[in-house]
Amino acid sequence: AAGQPFFAALDEESISHILDISEVIVCHRGAVLFEAGDPARDLFLVVSGKVKLTRPNPGARTPHRESLLWLMGPGDMFGELSLVDGGTRSTTATTLTHASLLRVPGSDLHDLVESKHDVALALLGRLSERLRRSDNTTAHFVVGGVPSRLAYILLDLADRFGRTDPATGNLVIHHDLTQQELAQAVGSSRETVSKALTDFAQRGWITSRPRTVVVVDREGLRAIAD
Ligand code: CMP
Repeated sequence: AAGQPFFAALDEESISHILDISEVIVCHRGAVLFEAGDPARDLFLVVSGKVKLTRPNPGARTPHRESLLWLMGPGDMFGELSLVDGGTRSTTATTLTHASLLRVPGSDLHDLVESKHDVALALLGRLSERLRRSDNTTAHFVVGGVPSRLAYILLDLADRFGRTDPATGNLVIHHDLTQQELAQAVGSSRETVSKALTDFAQRGWITSRPRTVVVVDREGLRAIAD
């Protein structure tokens, strides 16, 4: 597991300590790891597969019962907020694919944070990164319409999960989201997002297949995202 982004900021001693105290969990698609509002302190590290973080929409003004905040993939860490501030879970975490994760017990990790600076810094680094991303997304979503928001999300997914197809040079994103889940990330109805995807395809920017988008023209997407 060494070499994964969260671990990349840690020394050998911290990594082996974390591996010693953590438990490996393997789940199928659709497993709920925790729900928003749960009291818990454990931290999760994704080894393989993807996890979606969602939060319920209490108001009935949105087209969805929940919003999709972000996807976690291999090397990503989540669940640190309640560890740091002692609050309850801010999101629900559900596996999007078959996935394996490390669960690090919060109390043990808390002791480690107190004795090892690299662990505290790695957590801070992740928190800062997440706040930046959250700020950017909020700024963007306040001004952008659905096509702009969709393009922004696709570019974000491309940065995280895109792989260049050596044959075509195109960027293939296996996002593993249904159209409904993509709509929950964009904050619009499935129908509107589906129309925007068709429009992007007609413009020659993407090709869209179930759970996969191929980016053919990144600049086209960027122009509408900005
Ligand atoms: P915690 O609140 O313990 O449990 C839910 C986790 O979701 C939270 O810690 C963060 O790790 C993660 N999380 C919450 N909000 C966001 C967000 N906007 N983007 C990415 N991850 C988030």
